[in-house]
Amino acid sequence: MTKRVAILISGGGSNMVSLVEDMTCDHPARPVLVLSNRAEAGGLEKAKARGIPTAVVDHRPFGSNRAAFEDALNTVLDQARPDIICLAGFMRVLTEGFVTRWQGKMLNIHPSLLPKYKGLHTHQRAIDAGDTEAGCSVHEVTAELDGGRVLGQARVPIEPDDTSDDLAARVLVQEHILYPLVLRRFADGQRDRIDLP
Ligand code: GRF
Repeated sequence: MTKRVAILISGGGSNMVSLVEDMTCDHPARPVLVLSNRAEAGGLEKAKARGIPTAVVDHRPFGSNRAAFEDALNTVLDQARPDIICLAGFMRVLTEGFVTRWQGKMLNIHPSLLPKYKGLHTHQRAIDAGDTEAGCSVHEVTAELDGGRVLGQARVPIEPDDTSDDLAARVLVQEHILYPLVLRRFADGQRDRIDLP
């Protein structure tokens, strides 16, 4: 049975594009929705151009009421009936209630070698720490921010004169390889971890 995938974005959606463009032919999943909390997210146009249904649930009218925002998300998601949710640059922290609702069905890509550097500004933190390598992780989403089981990681070197933008660009290339690889395996029921290279 082909798995239905909803992808949540907040920005340009380059990871969303990588996932959508991999879900073809014998892939066990297909994209059914791209959902953003920002109407101006560039990824929405990219999804429409690829024939993927889109929706926007603006978080701002809900203010600090995260549960009400997430109820609105779930109303849209329930119509799409996803088997899997991929967070791809979705920049809203999700409550335990939402995560529990989708437990075991939700993935996220985080631009660090988890468990190092959970949260934001991961590349600058790695550079400031004098690390010689960085990377990205795809993990199952749990109530602990960036804390779920890691299903895949990709590593890149940190060069001596790297800025955080240099490193982010190098990691993003690997994100576009890793996330589709993990999603394909996840949709096929595989849960063993993969490490690149
Ligand atoms: C990526 O760097 C990803 O690691 C992080 O947010 C960024 C999203 O980029 N979660 P895009 O919107 O997928 O291009």
